[in-house]
Amino acid sequence: MTKGADKKDEITKNPVLREQDEKIKSKLDQIDNKIMVMSGKGGVGKSTVAINLAIGLSLENFYVGLLDVDLHGPNVPKMLGVEKGELQRRPDGTVGPVYYSPNLKFMSVEPLLPKKDSAVMWRGPLKMSAIRQFIYDIEWGKLDYLVIDAPPGTGDEPMTIAQTIPDAFAVVVTTPQEVSLLDVRKSISFCEQVGMPVVGIVENMSGMLCPHCGKTIDVFKRGGGVKLAEELNIPFLGRIPVDPRVVTTGDAGKPIIATYPNSHTAEAFETLVRNVINATQAIKERLIEEAKERQKAKKQMK
Ligand SMILES: Nc1ncnc2c1ncn2[C@@H]1O[C@H](COP(=O)(O)OP(=O)(O)O)[C@@H](O)[C@H]1O
Ligand SMILES: [Mg+2]
Repeated sequence: MTKGADKKDEITKNPVLREQDEKIKSKLDQIDNKIMVMSGKGGVGKSTVAINLAIGLSLENFYVGLLDVDLHGPNVPKMLGVEKGELQRRPDGTVGPVYYSPNLKFMSVEPLLPKKDSAVMWRGPLKMSAIRQFIYDIEWGKLDYLVIDAPPGTGDEPMTIAQTIPDAFAVVVTTPQEVSLLDVRKSISFCEQVGMPVVGIVENMSGMLCPHCGKTIDVFKRGGGVKLAEELNIPFLGRIPVDPRVVTTGDAGKPIIATYPNSHTAEAFETLVRNVINATQAIKERLIEEAKERQKAKKQMK
């Protein structure tokens, strides 16, 4: 039996966890689309993609939530320029999301961690209950999209998201190198095992526009993501170039899509946003069709 199935079993048997599950469900029922941004390894630009995707969706007038569950390196607050104080627990014990703009709220595990700059040792079960409680505590209200920034790999955090948010879909971020692409296969295989539909693959740090000659320089090769998407029959959602302004805007807490909306990179993010909207919709329609088919088959069996 898988680790996931064990945990699910424990939740169904344990009344406290079951009650928690029901509360989580009632909160999540108010959110139309849940998208976990994941990758096989760190540093490929997951948080950057998650943040610019969330802002991009909010600029399309959707109500959006952004949830940072990276227990070992939560950097969404810094990248959005929000002070730690704003993320604290409210006096009544609830955790309120912070407004980045009128239709974009976000929350990070960062304030739950003991001290800035201190490394925390988390054991697997503790991670699971921390993330579950965290999701259960947050008052998101009604949302069109919830974007979840997960830590790299296929460990406890993405597993907990898969179990706690069973209707979440995944966006997988990669860089064009072979090693990174190898890691993507692991992420995709994780999604298959936990039954999480994959919205598609994003190739980040894909070529760089030379500021002098305007031609593209392929810093980390290019095009691996498209090939892999074709091979795995998964949508390719777009490529984001290497752009030094991604770093400066990220460090300054003012993401590029909002700061340089006319740049080539912001346009690449906008294409990504549109592709995510369309691919998410396509998966939902496919799932509805499949459910109808199953119903039909069931009736015919009777
Ligand atoms: N397209 C890009 N161009 C230039 N720098 C980037 C790009 N994407 C991400 N970065 C930088 O790379 C570093 C790692 O990105 P981050 O989003 O934190 O990755 P992850 O969440 O996968 O660990 C950050 O400093 C970020 O600003
Ligand atoms: Mg990150």
